[in-house]
Amino acid sequence: MDEVNRHLLEIVRRYGTPTYAFDVRRLRAQVEKLRTHLPAAIEILYSLKANASLGICDVLRDCGIGADVASAGELATAIEAGFPSQRIFVAGPFKLPETLAQLRDLPAAVISVDSPSELQMLAGHRLPNPIVLRLRPDFDSQAVVAAGHESRFGFVGEDVASCRKLVNSRAVNVIGFHVFSGSQYLNAEGIVAHLRGALAISLRAADDLGIAPTLLNLGGGFGIPYASTAGELDLRIIGDELAMITEQMPTTRIVLELGRYLVAQAGWYLTSVLGHQTFQGRAAVVVDGGTHQRADMCGLCLRTKASPPLTLNAGMVPSRGAMDVSGKALVAGNSSEPAASALPLIPTDVLGCLSLPADVLTESSLLPRLEPGNVLAFANAGAYGLWSSPAMFHGSPLPAEVAFDGSEIQLMRERRSARSILDDQRHVNVRGHDA
Ligand SMILES: Cc1ncc(COP(=O)(O)O)c(C=O)c1O
Repeated sequence: MDEVNRHLLEIVRRYGTPTYAFDVRRLRAQVEKLRTHLPAAIEILYSLKANASLGICDVLRDCGIGADVASAGELATAIEAGFPSQRIFVAGPFKLPETLAQLRDLPAAVISVDSPSELQMLAGHRLPNPIVLRLRPDFDSQAVVAAGHESRFGFVGEDVASCRKLVNSRAVNVIGFHVFSGSQYLNAEGIVAHLRGALAISLRAADDLGIAPTLLNLGGGFGIPYASTAGELDLRIIGDELAMITEQMPTTRIVLELGRYLVAQAGWYLTSVLGHQTFQGRAAVVVDGGTHQRADMCGLCLRTKASPPLTLNAGMVPSRGAMDVSGKALVAGNSSEPAASALPLIPTDVLGCLSLPADVLTESSLLPRLEPGNVLAFANAGAYGLWSSPAMFHGSPLPAEVAFDGSEIQLMRERRSARSILDDQRHVNVRGHDA
């Protein structure tokens, strides 16, 4: 059995299912790949919106990259993880009072401003922080999740020029620009087109304001292959383009913000088979997880597009009958069981445990005959999974989150109990009208 499968089974043995497991080596390898192929002068930020787990942030901070945050909660996490404040970028369409209060203690953190209205608001707060203006792309996006000229974010048209007086008054410290045109770019040429478009609108905006930019956040959107037929992004082509940009602008900080590319492939979603069903004439199993913990599946139609899950303990018969949903009754596989690859494969749907017809984790995947207690491991689940999910649906408790670094396993988040959904809630004292 492959080493990662063995670690995943051990995680299930200790913490049950559903559980997210994160491969720390894979996180580090992604950072290393970027360092190998992109110019050394390019600064990388981790976009916490992809997965704001503190443990993931710890690892990425330790790799020496910065943080891109878009809320007070993500900013609190970045601070707790110890990202240096000059490498924290605070974005989002309007900064809430809590974020502004945090920024008072972080004068070196960079703020990305989304509109003239927000810039005006910030001027009133007299924050000393360096500011970049987010510009809405005027070019088409080739990203799978596009945020090009049709996006709602960023300065458009005359917006930049209309702020020239305010910028020159020095009530705000505008030092550059920020452009993001979409997530999950699958080809390097699309990213090169984005970089060229982003640089062009940034230089035009600099002229409109009469400033020489010292910082450009050129976004990113680097995608990953969810289907086995998709190829890896060619970082060399992107590296060559960025080398030209850094040569052209040797005194400007050039920054990229990446979420999915850093964390998606490090994440595994582990869930256990509870029993059998049929769905649309196909064999199906119901598992103890579901799409309420996998928002990434819905946005990208992964139920039909992603590679099938691994069956970690195929052929295994659980020793204590039906599974305990808490996972405590799980039995790890043993070397005498048949290898998954030797078993006949059956087109199978994996259905989540919600009372929701659309709660399908994979459709018509070729899997061995599954039995209660089998553990399915969904790969590439590290980005926009739990952290973008309607996780409270059906009063569901949060799953466990675990990191593994080789054979070393560390709990990141305790599995919550069913009763935990009552935490922080208060009864309403209902009285009759006459009371
Ligand atoms: C402004 C911004 N920056 C960064 C990201 C992260 O994108 P990705 O996870 O594709 O790298 C997003 C994602 O939507 C975004 O909206």
